[in-house]
Amino acid sequence: MHTSPLPALLSTYTPYPFPLLRGEGDRVFDDLGTAYWDFYGGHCVCATGHAHPRVVQAIARQASELLFYSTAAQLPVRDRAAEALLAFANGGLAKPLASIFFCNSGTEANENALKLAVKLTGRTRFTSFRGGWHGRSTLALSVTDDPGLRLGFEPLLAPTEFLPFGDEAALEGVDLSRSAAVILEPIQSMAGIRSTSPSFLRRLRQACDAGGAMLIFDEVQTGMGRLGTPFAASFFGTTPDLITSAKGLASGVPMGAVLMSEAIASALKPGDLGSTFGGGPLASAALLATLGVIHSEGLMPRASAMASRLRRELARSPVSKVEGEGLLLGLRVPSGAAGLRQHLLTHRILVGGSGDPEVLRLMPPLNLSDAALDALVSAVWNYTV
Ligand SMILES: Cc1ncc(COP(=O)(O)O)c(C=O)c1O
Repeated sequence: MHTSPLPALLSTYTPYPFPLLRGEGDRVFDDLGTAYWDFYGGHCVCATGHAHPRVVQAIARQASELLFYSTAAQLPVRDRAAEALLAFANGGLAKPLASIFFCNSGTEANENALKLAVKLTGRTRFTSFRGGWHGRSTLALSVTDDPGLRLGFEPLLAPTEFLPFGDEAALEGVDLSRSAAVILEPIQSMAGIRSTSPSFLRRLRQACDAGGAMLIFDEVQTGMGRLGTPFAASFFGTTPDLITSAKGLASGVPMGAVLMSEAIASALKPGDLGSTFGGGPLASAALLATLGVIHSEGLMPRASAMASRLRRELARSPVSKVEGEGLLLGLRVPSGAAGLRQHLLTHRILVGGSGDPEVLRLMPPLNLSDAALDALVSAVWNYTV
């Protein structure tokens, strides 16, 4: 019998020091039954919390009716999911988007949005921002500013210029006439929760229009109600040509989406985009249930209210600043984020790290409970370096 010294599952990440067996709302449970408050949300995915009964029921019902069929067939559940997501997104936009392409992940959504920009502009260069994170496929990595991830894979597919993030002055005189698209996270997450401003995004929109470049908002983390509005586009009041979404879309069932303007959708013909699994019935049913829960449980106003509470209760604590919006937050810890992260783990609270060694990230379920927030605030106040 062949035995290998390596585990069967390739190691890609340093996991928590315990396995997880179960989740319920804003808590997860390890193999000993110990509960942890989940401010990490499986990396910003579990928008409606763990095992929300409405989502579970929708998935179970759909699985028993029609587990899968590709886009070779028209599926009412997929049509309804697209209509509902479009209505949700357009609820906050000045200029409505027209159409949706479903895929399976954030990387795939960005890959397709970038490809569309190449096809429709005839250009092959991109503009992105320092600190931007858009995925690990070769095109998405081309527009990602993470030297560690790029190492060993360069040259990547597309020449990309990286501008300073959120710097309005740097947009003065920027020439986008050779760029197929500008892509950015309206709030950079991995870089350490760095926000922009409405005026920066407005100015960027103008620069794209002047140069004929498409504007892509990577809303893989900022969308689905997390900022207290449907998408960051509505939060900041700028409509891009394309919005990419994933993570919280279907509460954990893998799903990605590209939302696009009428001009883009009408320039495409069948076959330009495609995916076997994209918009499958299970993911579509989970997306419909997710939107239903966001609406019926008032999760968008709740996200804003919880963020305000957290800012208020952590003022003058070991956290010097709470960055970000809604429930995409960064806790700045001048003494170093790793120490507080470890301390929180001993208090059975899961949070995320970031590319900034001073910033911890919070990306919890949008139905975060008061008890969870109380536990986090009390643990932070108990922290001594
Ligand atoms: C902003 C952003 N874009 C894209 C991605 C890639 O998404 P996925 O891992 O679903 O491919 C991520 C993942 O963390 C992300 O945070």
